[in-house]
Amino acid sequence: MERLDKILSNLGYGSRKDIKTLVKKGFVKIDGEVVKDNSLQLDPEKSTIEVNGEEVFYRKYIYLMMNKPKDVVSATFDKYDETVIDLLDTDYVVFEPFPVGRLDKDTVGLLLITNDGELNHKLISPKWKVDKVYYAKIDKEVDEKDVEKFKKGIVIDDGYRCLPAKLNIISSSEEGSEIELTIQEGKFHQVKRMFEAVDKKVTYLRRIKFGPLSIDEGLEEGEYRELSEEEVDLLYEVVKK
Ligand code: URA
Repeated sequence: MERLDKILSNLGYGSRKDIKTLVKKGFVKIDGEVVKDNSLQLDPEKSTIEVNGEEVFYRKYIYLMMNKPKDVVSATFDKYDETVIDLLDTDYVVFEPFPVGRLDKDTVGLLLITNDGELNHKLISPKWKVDKVYYAKIDKEVDEKDVEKFKKGIVIDDGYRCLPAKLNIISSSEEGSEIELTIQEGKFHQVKRMFEAVDKKVTYLRRIKFGPLSIDEGLEEGEYRELSEEEVDLLYEVVKK
C-alpha cells in the first residue's frame, strides 16, 4: 500500500503539493470514484487511478538499455559533464533511474539503467559472477601468452588478482589488435588495467554484452530503449538461486 500523492508524484504528476491541489479539486478518481484525500493508502497494482479523466499507467520500475556514447559519464549527477541520465526523456527521469555499474567516460556500448535497486545490486555484486563482454582495440600485438595470463588471473596495479577472464583474439599484428574479453567483475578501469598489466594499452572500448543481454545494434550511440519483459526476466534469471 502506498499514499496516493506519493504514487502520482513518482509517476511525474507534479510535487506532492500539486497533487494535493489536484485531489482537492476533484480531478482524481480511484476505481471510478472521486477521492478528496491525498493521503489515501492504496495498492496501485490493484486499483485504477484516473487523473483528469485519463487512466494512469502505473509501474514501479523502468528498465532501459542504452548504447552509451563517449564523453558522457555513468552517473546520475555530475558538476561538469553530461550524464547518461541527462540523455533520458523526462518521462523516464521522474522514475529516478541510475546506471547499473559504470562505464568510463570514453567507453561506449551497453549500459543498463533502472530504478530497481535490488536487481541493480545483484547484477553488480561479484557474488553472481555476471559476464560482461567487451570489444577492444589494443595498441600492440596480443598473443596466446596473454590469453593464458588472462585465463590464470591477471594481477593488476594494486596487487589484486582478477578472476579468470576469457580473452579472444579477433585480429592481431604489430600495429595493434582487436579482441573480445569476458570478465565477471567490474573494478574501476578493469579492462584497461588488465591490459596495462601486460604492458599494453586499450585505445577503444565498447561493452557488447551484459549477462544474457547483447547490445541492440539498432541503437545509435546515445540512444536507448526499454527492455522487453522477456529481457527483464532473463536478467532476473541470472541472479536467481
Ligand atoms: N573496464 C574499463 O577499463 N573501463 C570500462 O568502462 C569498463 C570496463
